[in-house]
Amino acid sequence: MNAATEQLAALQAYFGLMNMNGAARVYRTAQELGVHEALRGGAGTAAEVAAACGLHEAPVALLLDALCALGTVEATDGCYALAPVANFLSGNYRNLGDEYWDFLPTFLRTGTPLARMDSVEQSEAQYEQQVSALAWMMTPAAEVFAGMLGIGSERKSLRILDVGGGSGIWSLTCAQRDAGSTVTVSDWPAVVDIAAGFARRMGLAERFDAIPGNYHEADLGSGAFDLAIVANVTHIETPEGNVALLRRVRDALRPGGEIAIVDVIPAQGEGRLPASLYALGLGLRTESGRVHSAAALQGYLADAGFRNAQVEPIPAPPFTMGIVVASRGEQPC
Ligand SMILES: C[S@@+](CC[C@H](N)C(=O)[O-])C[C@H]1O[C@@H](n2cnc3c(N)ncnc32)[C@H](O)[C@@H]1O
Repeated sequence: MNAATEQLAALQAYFGLMNMNGAARVYRTAQELGVHEALRGGAGTAAEVAAACGLHEAPVALLLDALCALGTVEATDGCYALAPVANFLSGNYRNLGDEYWDFLPTFLRTGTPLARMDSVEQSEAQYEQQVSALAWMMTPAAEVFAGMLGIGSERKSLRILDVGGGSGIWSLTCAQRDAGSTVTVSDWPAVVDIAAGFARRMGLAERFDAIPGNYHEADLGSGAFDLAIVANVTHIETPEGNVALLRRVRDALRPGGEIAIVDVIPAQGEGRLPASLYALGLGLRTESGRVHSAAALQGYLADAGFRNAQVEPIPAPPFTMGIVVASRGEQPC
């Protein structure tokens, strides 16, 4: 790298850091001073927002413009309104994961995570609170996923098993594209109830079934499914846990049936920062969760008796995920 290129790279990193820090401070200050809240009742000018929050108009106008650039607020003719994402930011996700990030120094000192979402004791209650928000986040990616698999065209009339399915967003999106497909979600009892609610609201209740319980122990059936979806699950399992689970999934598939793993797959260019933050966040909320490389996932699949594992990135937000599709082999290794 010559001196000019080095300087450019350093400047890019510097301005990137400045922007990320500034954006975080602007967002947090707006939340603390009730700026988003002031717009919740309806659109308003900078003067109206300032008055509602007891602030000065001129700096509030600057803040609102920065929030427009961040995407939480929209402006039309000097009038500001909440952007759609702001609805989402009023709930559990209002603080953008601060409860985890605040714990980072302690995590670094002690090596102990804040939560153990991968433990049998905590998993059900933790995910019960999170899967609906996850569905919202994953919907566009699930649609792209269903398109990539050719659901309704190359692949149709499928009996789909959605392992650790959460809201069922991945499998239900497939069923929505193909009237001949059915969905069975395997997850904790409280979570499959949430998936059943999603199925009802999507008009898919008649084609929905559930296997409540621990997916490491529940009866997933034998040779009963054409396609198994394992989405955002491999990162909460250890390598051994993944191989054991994938073996059970293999047995649940008919000969020639397929598995589609969806997960964060590192090293996708633009996705490098989100993927590494995701891996750090996993450390904060799980005991043994980790981002497994595509090669590692392919290895687990081979060990569990799958073949021809093909990896493809999912070109949809958050641009960190990929699919690994493989076919059930004849004999597990
Ligand atoms: C990260 S969420 C992914 C949910 C969904 N597949 C998605 O992508 O939106 C992981 C899911 O696995 C479920 N899960 C984790 N451990 C489990 C276990 N041992 N048995 C059954 N479900 C489990 C959780 O309840 C949760 O719904």
